[in-house]
Amino acid sequence: MGANITGTGHYVPTRVLGNDDLERMVNTSDAWIVRRTGIRTRHILSEEEIPADMAVHAARRAMDAAGVEPAAIDLLLVATNFPDMPCPGTSPFVASGIGLGVGVPFFDLSAGCSGFVYGLAIADALVTAGAFSNVLLIGSEALSRVVDWTDRKTCVLFGDGAGAVMLTAGSDGRGVLSTALHGDHEKAQLLCVPGGGTRHPASTQTVDARLHYLRMEGAGVYRSAVPMMANAVHEALERAGLEISDADWIIPHQANQRIIDSLVKRLGVPDASVIVNLDRVANTSTASIPIALDEAVRSGRVAPGDIVVLTAFGAGASYGAAVVRL
Ligand code: ACO
Repeated sequence: MGANITGTGHYVPTRVLGNDDLERMVNTSDAWIVRRTGIRTRHILSEEEIPADMAVHAARRAMDAAGVEPAAIDLLLVATNFPDMPCPGTSPFVASGIGLGVGVPFFDLSAGCSGFVYGLAIADALVTAGAFSNVLLIGSEALSRVVDWTDRKTCVLFGDGAGAVMLTAGSDGRGVLSTALHGDHEKAQLLCVPGGGTRHPASTQTVDARLHYLRMEGAGVYRSAVPMMANAVHEALERAGLEISDADWIIPHQANQRIIDSLVKRLGVPDASVIVNLDRVANTSTASIPIALDEAVRSGRVAPGDIVVLTAFGAGASYGAAVVRL
């Protein structure tokens, strides 16, 4: 018994912010952003929109695709780093939005941008153990709400969105074949929002010191990301008894085109097998892999039976990979 992906869905806000818009906000250029990152546009939540609603839209699409009614879901897992509220997070609002049965458990999962891969591993373990049969896993992130829009080093990189998968117990050889999760706590300072937690609770001082914005040591993240993802991919494939040549598709966390290019080179896979959408949606953290997966499924690019390798890295530093047969 394992967890089959029976439906996928995603949602991005309608408002699109182009590199030309950013040129008017900070000292940057379309040429710099495209050359260093590959990003051209990103989607941004409007002030009136509630972040959890993105997750609800993505979830409904995944449930529709799977043909699963809310009453059949027995666990809701929302991977996010920036919840609607520090407490109780995002998942209760998503539960309400999708009409989850009262009494059904839900929780937020915070594991940097690897949150979706971590969530897959957790959901698969719980389904395999027989604890749950229909797990709704969502990655949702409103990064525009924590980005410092005066910091050109970070504000050009991120976007908002949500992606979801419906995981259903099955024993036909499909689903999550293996996972490999890792972390490197010595890199915890590379990417963080220092304020607003219990170490630096919100105060006028934390606001004045701009502690509530995302801070990133870009070069440090860049150096770590490629070996982390490559090692996790090889480990997950080995656990599944597969070779890299068995992978039909690779879906890496969509952080930076140069990181993805280096990963592709290190893995020795054809460019055509790598699914990339960061030029249009930028880095959406936990949402990046499920958004790319859903786009690939709906366009028919990824077909039932295909072997897909998912890999991510992020704040923490967390990293990991999952091998899935659709
Ligand atoms: N426009 C113009 N110039 C810029 C911009 C910008 N948007 N951002 C930085 N620069 C400047 C810097 O100020 C610096 O100028 P200086 O030399 O005068 O000081 C110069 O460009 C070079 O800066 P670097 O930071 O060295 O540029 P680099 O080539 O490393 O690219 C980048 C920066 C794109 C952030 C890169 O380091 C990177 O992609 N790192 C990984 C980022 C990432 O993946 N983050 C997310 C991972 S975790 C998660 O997903 C949540």
